[in-house]
Amino acid sequence: MKKIYLIGYMGSGKSAIGKRLSYALRLPYYDMDREIEKQAGMKIPQIFEQYGEEYFRQMETDFLRNFRDEWCIISTGGGTPMRPENRKLLRQTGLVLFLNAPFFEIWRRIRTDKNRPIVQRSTREDLQKLYNERKKVYKKTAHITINTKGRTLRQATDYAA
Ligand code: S3P
Repeated sequence: MKKIYLIGYMGSGKSAIGKRLSYALRLPYYDMDREIEKQAGMKIPQIFEQYGEEYFRQMETDFLRNFRDEWCIISTGGGTPMRPENRKLLRQTGLVLFLNAPFFEIWRRIRTDKNRPIVQRSTREDLQKLYNERKKVYKKTAHITINTKGRTLRQATDYAA
């Protein structure tokens, strides 16, 4: 076990807290979405458009299987833990932290986002429903749940560290 994974819904603060945690723990930080974009040579909305969501999901699994074997912090995509195989890979190769933020806060952060295809194609109600479904999966995947409600980024990071 060498990795610290941050899981949670879109807009739950995985990247922001991941970067801070990386600094606090002196470990390199990687954002899975950015790594996948580098590998594909295109942005996530383009991957979804040209190759479809399943292709992107397979890239997530390949990333978890093959990413370098070193101590590091990795923020995952909001949909990563939905595949059973990915849940197994996450738990086998690292410590999994779930960033639990309330939907109203998340909605405020993601509502106008053009770079998240799931947000682009969904209504607020769809996203709330998906949030409720996924939350159960995040909880059972994580070793530790971090409630970020009422905590500043700094407080949430200190708590995680
Ligand atoms: C997705 C979340 C995104 C990205 C892709 C799909 C999802 O990552 O992986 O757009 O299914 O929830 P973030 O959680 O970093 O936004």
